[in-house]
Amino acid sequence: MSKILFFGGKGGVGKTSCSSAFAVKRASEGHKVLLVSTDPAHSTSDLFERKIGPKIVPLRDNLDALEIDPQKEADDYIKMIKGNMSQIVSPIILDEMNQQLDAARVSPGSHESALFDKMIEIINKTSADYDYIIFDTAPTGHTVRLLSLPEMLGAWMDTLLRKRRKTMALKRMVDRAKGKESEQDPIIKILMRRKENLEKARHIMMDEKSLSFVFVMNAERLPIEETKKAVKLLKKYQIPVQSLVVNRILPESKDEFWKNKKLSETKYLEEINESFDVSHIYKIPMFQSDMKASSIDQMADYFRK
Ligand SMILES: Nc1ncnc2c1ncn2[C@@H]1O[C@H](COP(=O)(O)OP(=O)(O)OP(=O)(O)O)[C@@H](O)[C@H]1O
Ligand SMILES: [Mg+2]
Repeated sequence: MSKILFFGGKGGVGKTSCSSAFAVKRASEGHKVLLVSTDPAHSTSDLFERKIGPKIVPLRDNLDALEIDPQKEADDYIKMIKGNMSQIVSPIILDEMNQQLDAARVSPGSHESALFDKMIEIINKTSADYDYIIFDTAPTGHTVRLLSLPEMLGAWMDTLLRKRRKTMALKRMVDRAKGKESEQDPIIKILMRRKENLEKARHIMMDEKSLSFVFVMNAERLPIEETKKAVKLLKKYQIPVQSLVVNRILPESKDEFWKNKKLSETKYLEEINESFDVSHIYKIPMFQSDMKASSIDQMADYFRK
């Protein structure tokens, strides 16, 4: 089973850069690595300066990557279900089902659940082939919510199933009165399968040896506070935080302004050291310019084990 790492953190702290550099480092050490971006802005493609897209492509020796687009996943999923159903049920039922599916598209968690399904599919399909599956995620709140999904969706699915069973029971009564035979309901089947998938996902997520979190932050007040909150929340779901990355560490300077900045950074670093119980804290310096394909290796070097 591969190690599954989620890189999380506040917007703009360096999740995409650090997850990519981490992936490059592990691959250069000889591990087979899959880097998965869940960011609709396709920033991994931008960073590596090449198109990645929804299919697995090789990036370097031992390193493959793909990008998932949450919106597209949600739309494809609904389209697929609609397509399947038009072949099995009568037009009258189909109309009603389409209405229910359109409701599902805007229901809470439908984007996340499609994204989640996709992530689970990737994990299930590829975990035999890779030592590491690394997810570059959207900002913190979103990701942690994603991981609480199986629980949240479990309840939501139960409600949907209950409603659907009620509708079908009514329909059966009407059919019986008309002396007609009832059709089997594909929606219930699909919902059940989805529920099973979510439960499987929960098992994978709860297995301490396979899944953990890496938080990226800057040595500043707000990112530290947000990381503390996120770590607490993850604890509630029994998801371990493997390591932290403190990104954009300032260089030493003789300038008074930067000297003061550096001083407060040192205090924050001490606070980080004391506040988090993790196996590793990676410290990455601020580079002179924004990250580009040619500077990934420079950052990767700081992710030595
Ligand atoms: N150590 C660093 N030194 C210099 N620039 C950096 C460093 N780390 C990240 N950057 C730059 O900061 C910007 C934000 O980084 P990145 O895209 O990795 O953050 P992110 O957390 O993925 O953002 P988002 O939340 O929008 O997905 C990018 O322009 C990147 O090149
Ligand atoms: Mg990003």
